[in-house]
Amino acid sequence: MERTFLMLKPDAVQRGLVGEIIARLEKKGLKLVALKMLKVDRALAEEHYREHRGKSFFEPTVQYIMSSPVIAMVWEGKNAVAQARLLMGATNPLNADPGSIRGSYALDISRNVIHGSDSLESAEREISLYFRPEEIFSYPKAGDDWLSE
Ligand code: CDP
Ligand code: MG
Repeated sequence: MERTFLMLKPDAVQRGLVGEIIARLEKKGLKLVALKMLKVDRALAEEHYREHRGKSFFEPTVQYIMSSPVIAMVWEGKNAVAQARLLMGATNPLNADPGSIRGSYALDISRNVIHGSDSLESAEREISLYFRPEEIFSYPKAGDDWLSE
């Protein structure tokens, strides 16, 4: 089972999209194994987006993620990293499938409502940035048996 790190960005919280986005992830069959609300500080924001340091959108993106509380989450499931990216849609909402989260709820690349790890390596790194091991739960869930053969 894979785990991925997902974050509902400040705009998702401010626009009242938290419940709808979490519902989509639950209905897909992914399992919520960790969740917290926090205000990201500069050190964490810069570490989170370190691969983009030096790019024109780095500083605005750091400012955006620090601007208001976010919901940090870990979701578990078969191919969780790729499945979550599929539900999220393309980075630029203009190119995101209309049924995806970004395609449904966002207009602009700089306010694209959700973050998700892009690989297993990123997932491990990002999970450990936001959560201590004891904040992540392994538990059997009703319906687990019905999600794959
Ligand atoms: O979030 P994702 O992995 O899909 O995209 P990214 O290429 O890793 O970029 C990280 C974040 O930077 C995006 O989700 C946007 O919030 C922001 N960004 C932006 O504002 N303008 C760009 N041209 C590219 C990224
Ligand atoms: Mg990325």
